[in-house]
Amino acid sequence: MTQHQTNPPQATNHQTIAVLDYGSQYTQLICRRVRECNVYAELVSWDSAAELLPTMNLAGIILSGGPNSVYAKDAPTLPDIVLESGVPVLGICYGLQLLAHTLCGQVASSREREYGKATLRVEQPNALFGDLPSEQQVWMSHGDKVEQLPPGFHVVAQSNNSPLAAIVDESRQIYAIQFHPEVVHSTHGTALLDNFVKRICGCAADWTAGQFIDEAVASIQQQVGETGRVICGLSGGVDSAVAAALVHRAIGDRLNCIFVDHGMMRLNEGRQVVETFQTHQGMRLSAVNASEEFLADLKGVTDPEKKRKLIGTRFIRTFEAETARLAAEWQGDGAAFLAQGTLYPDVIESASESETRNARTIKTHHNVGGLPKDMKFELVEPLRMLFKDEVRAVGEALGLPEKIVWRHPFPGPGLAVRILGEITWDQLETLRHADAIFLQELAAAGQYRTTSQVFAVLLPTRSVGVMGDGRTYGNTVALRAVTTDDFMTADWARLPYEMLATVSSRIVNEVEGVNRVVYDISSKPPATIEWE
Ligand code: XMP
Repeated sequence: MTQHQTNPPQATNHQTIAVLDYGSQYTQLICRRVRECNVYAELVSWDSAAELLPTMNLAGIILSGGPNSVYAKDAPTLPDIVLESGVPVLGICYGLQLLAHTLCGQVASSREREYGKATLRVEQPNALFGDLPSEQQVWMSHGDKVEQLPPGFHVVAQSNNSPLAAIVDESRQIYAIQFHPEVVHSTHGTALLDNFVKRICGCAADWTAGQFIDEAVASIQQQVGETGRVICGLSGGVDSAVAAALVHRAIGDRLNCIFVDHGMMRLNEGRQVVETFQTHQGMRLSAVNASEEFLADLKGVTDPEKKRKLIGTRFIRTFEAETARLAAEWQGDGAAFLAQGTLYPDVIESASESETRNARTIKTHHNVGGLPKDMKFELVEPLRMLFKDEVRAVGEALGLPEKIVWRHPFPGPGLAVRILGEITWDQLETLRHADAIFLQELAAAGQYRTTSQVFAVLLPTRSVGVMGDGRTYGNTVALRAVTTDDFMTADWARLPYEMLATVSSRIVNEVEGVNRVVYDISSKPPATIEWE
């Protein structure tokens, strides 16, 4: 069970739907779906509700699903504040069972799960289902189920296995459903949530990218004041780019971005960052090329974790040196703020001790750009309440180029973890070339937006080949393309054979020293996305 608290980073005046987390894997998804309806939603751990709900401009409460049985020892309970707050409540799955159990209905404990698609029949007109079709597909995933209605409730929808699939007490504004509307397999799920937050809770559709930008700009101006200066590290990725663009809109030239080129970027990437931010967006940008220092540190190093550590340390040193140089240039009137592209899932995760968090430490991600906590800056984190898809929408509304807004993630240590073994400049050039061909063909085949992360890897093994009349003994390039929602699990992308054939023949013909190309067909787990 996640144990997170919401930190109020920038007080929002929006009417808020609190999503109480009872441990379902879909809780974040509920929050995202509500926001897709342009209504602001926040996650709250069920046991923090008493403390946090009174601080919100609360318009409604959704109780998430969860893995427990209401009868289990130490099962999470319904905090009194939920029913006392006087706002409408929607219980989903465990949320339904918890409401039924607490309000004196009967929940039947069952070892057998109902899992998968089911047909729901809406039996009685009601505000939750509104104009939705009377028969619709829903997604079920539950063991226990409600067998006897609590007093005051009536049934509004049924499925074959769940006669009490949706129950309502209109007088108290309590709604509860057995299925998961947040999952795409519930074909009218988002529309149902839209009914709940707008028709029942009365929320206005005021959570939009445009409105967010206005509020974020005002909040940055207030935090930084009229003379403060902000520094922001740019990596080329969407999060830092959107954070920088927001800060730039708020304070213009008092923002100075820093881009550290460690020499392990993809082809032309460093140049693109400078062109986009300096030339097109008109931002002050220090582009520091420290590739020689990075490569000198990495000489003779083959262990991936050591590579990450060395790169992380050199990055911090380079960044600090540049901030010191800027401070001297500003003659003591230096930056007091550091902008970072921290997102909502990071905020939730860093306050949680969940299993997910433990799983993530299997391979330490010494994030390049992860700066030490003792740096003497106050943080400006304008994206800390946003999900990734919202960051992209804000990036588009700010006019950032599509290439940046939709860029696949790229690891901080860059190509260093895609050249297995020791790194040399020649190998970096070889990999950059092969990787660029793969990405060009991917875009030409219209597959960039259907995949989540795509790249080439240079293997240290050489193999025999034949070219013309002679034998070759060349390097191998592995192609990796994955699809994933959260990068915790991933599947290999079923790219068209024809496209792979073109990539392979272009790489062996155009990239010197490479005579073999292989396609990685491993899913995560057991493999990871990167090869190191
Ligand atoms: P894995 O390889 O663990 O990767 O399946 C999951 C996601 O994390 C990225 N990744 C990194 N990102 N520094 C980063 O900033 C790192 O050291 C690092 N290692 C992996 C990887 O590209 C994928 O998106």
